[in-house]
Amino acid sequence: MRVPNHIAIILDGNGRWAKAKGMPRGYGHIKGCANLETICDDIKDLGVKYLTVYAFSTENWKRSREEVEGLMKLFRSYLKKCMKSAEKNHMRVKVIGDPSAFAPDIQEKIRQLEEFSKDYDELYFQIALNYGSRDEIVRGVRKLAQDVADGKLVPDAIDESCFENYLDTVGVPDPDLMIRTSGELRLSNFLMWQLAYTEFYFTDVPWPDFHKEELIKAIEKYNERDRRYGGVKEE
Ligand code: FPP
Repeated sequence: MRVPNHIAIILDGNGRWAKAKGMPRGYGHIKGCANLETICDDIKDLGVKYLTVYAFSTENWKRSREEVEGLMKLFRSYLKKCMKSAEKNHMRVKVIGDPSAFAPDIQEKIRQLEEFSKDYDELYFQIALNYGSRDEIVRGVRKLAQDVADGKLVPDAIDESCFENYLDTVGVPDPDLMIRTSGELRLSNFLMWQLAYTEFYFTDVPWPDFHKEELIKAIEKYNERDRRYGGVKEE
């Protein structure tokens, strides 16, 4: 089985999964969070080099106060626990998105986790938190415009690879496979630049039930695809 170099996942369906069990949405997030830890180990074991997950979007602030507060609590405990996962898996962790909207202690935990894991190189794990692709592009354009204004960059030098240096994902290869769980067939403002040539896999399985067998199924489907990048198929 050919394993994708970079897998991106939209972690969807925690709320519906919990509701189907007669439980509050927060319970789904707790189970979803535990599943993320397991999938990280599985991804590492399979030999995938990059994993990016969409954990909290710029739109998710619109959820009820109770749900947002529950998620913040979960992020706090997860970011702490993630140090152990990083150590165990020799995994570098990077948060993409705009962390400035989070409480100072969460921002500090993100900083500590990134610093602690910065020299690991067996798995590169990106967590999208307060992330939206349009927001990422706008923030990137703002930095780029500032560099032009400061005379560090001339407009003629701006091409695709130059622009990528202004994105949160700078230096990380584009995903080969994007998985969205729980039945929705949308991108929901996730990595719109980076997913330009990525293969998509959608499954009805909700995130808390998406285990290693489901992951392998997605990779098998990916293997059946004919990846041409718009060019001529290799014989
Ligand atoms: C989608 O389910 C999930 C989220 C908005 C949050 C994702 C969070 C986790 C998996 C847990 C924690 C992650 C980290 C990094 C600590 P949903 O609420 O949209 O479910 P629904 O579509 O069924 O309502």
